[in-house]
Formats: sequence, C-alpha cells, structure tokens
Amino acid sequence: MSRRFIVGGNWKMNGDKDKITEIVSNLMRGPLDPNAEVVIGVPSIYLAYVKSIMPDNISVAAQNCWKVPNGAFTGEVSPAMILDVGGEWVILGHSERRTIFNEKDDLIAEKVAHALDTGLNVIACIGESLEERESGKTEEVVFRQIKALLPAIADNWENVVLAYEPVWAIGTGKTATPQQAQDVHASLRHWLALNVSPDVAQNVRIQYGGSVTAANAKELAACSDIDGFLVGGASLKPEFIDIVNASQ
Ligand code: PGA
Repeated sequence: MSRRFIVGGNWKMNGDKDKITEIVSNLMRGPLDPNAEVVIGVPSIYLAYVKSIMPDNISVAAQNCWKVPNGAFTGEVSPAMILDVGGEWVILGHSERRTIFNEKDDLIAEKVAHALDTGLNVIACIGESLEERESGKTEEVVFRQIKALLPAIADNWENVVLAYEPVWAIGTGKTATPQQAQDVHASLRHWLALNVSPDVAQNVRIQYGGSVTAANAKELAACSDIDGFLVGGASLKPEFIDIVNASQ
C-alpha cells in the first residue's frame, strides 16, 4: 500500500500581498512532482486571496481555527469560514500554538473534532521539546499527544495527516537526523497499529517537520516511514520546489 507523498508549507505569520504573489508564481513555474500533494498553510486574512491566485493542484490551509461554527469569539475563525473561502485544510496543534498560545491537548482535540466534522482535512502536529528528548521522554510525549486526538479523529483517519515536529528542530536550523525522524515515525506507526488499527497505521501519512531544507529533504524523504514534510522557513523560498520534489 503506498502513501502519497504530501508536503505542507507553513508560512506562519509571514508574507504580504507582494510576497505571496511572488511565492505563488514560483509554485506555478515549478515544476512540481505530480505525484506529490501540496498544501500551503497561510495566514487566515490572506486565505481568500491565496485561493484566488493558487493553481488548482495546490490546496490551501489555515494555520489554526476555533472549535465551533460561529458566535461570540472575537478574533477567531471557524472551519466553516475556512471552507467558505476555499480552504481545504487546517494545521492544528502546532508547537507554536501549544507553547506561545498555551493550547493544551484537550483544546486541540476539540478543534480537530470540529474541523473534521465540518469537512476540513487536518494536519495534526505533535512533537517533543529538547528537554523531553534529552530526558528520554520523546515517545511518552508523542504517544500522549496522539492519544489525546483519538476520540476526536474517530473514524476520520482518511482526512488526517500527522506531522511529527520535534520542537527543538523548528526554526532552529537543527534538523532531526533521518534516523532520529525515521525512528519516531516508525514508533508512531507501531503505536497506531496497537491502539487504533493496523490499517490506520499502514495508511496514515506522517510528515516530518523542523528545519527541512532542499539540502536535507531527499535523505529524509528516503526513509520508509516519512511520507512528506511540514515546512516553515523554506516554504517562503524558491527551494520549496525542491522539497516538494524530494521523493522523486
Ligand atoms: P521550520 O518550521 O521549517 O522553519 O523549522 C517548521 C514548522 O514550524 O512547521
């Protein structure tokens, strides 16, 4: 059973209309591996604009959403709104949401459940901090984070991609070695086989994220349990094309 390679760009809170137009033109020039799925996570305020200029072979994601369709939640955006302007995905549980905005596993689970119920696809992020890795707690942490999402995902695994992003590798220039990443991906799959089903373990796509660049993408992409990337900094640069094409 082959899992389609999927590369997500996560622009975070970067870009303006000029920069976005430049990035999209670059994506259109490609050439992009037609076997790779591409999803670009953009600031919510630019979702409709990005969607209006993005070619159809590239999906657009929000980087966060709230857990109900509408109401008195000043400043928030709902999955229904994301869908309404053409977004197909949402990134949830990113470590910046967890640390800077203090989002806990249970809130992330509520958001995941509502996003899936509304019809969005979800990139669900998990990953350990440096301190947790150094104290040998990597598996404990990622298993806890994924376990918290199980009731939210229920039987919607087809609409979920997991992103393993060790926090110490995000935006630091310190990439996990292919072996370190592969080991965690394989453990996650093993855990899913035991706690969800062998079928889900076999079919769910697990992206690696954390300082992925054109220089390290090919070696990471060659690992058997790495099914793509979630790319921050490099998704704003022309080298993103090479990252999308890394599994060719
Ligand atoms: P980075 O970010 O590629 O800049 O390390 C990855 C992410 O936060 O998704």
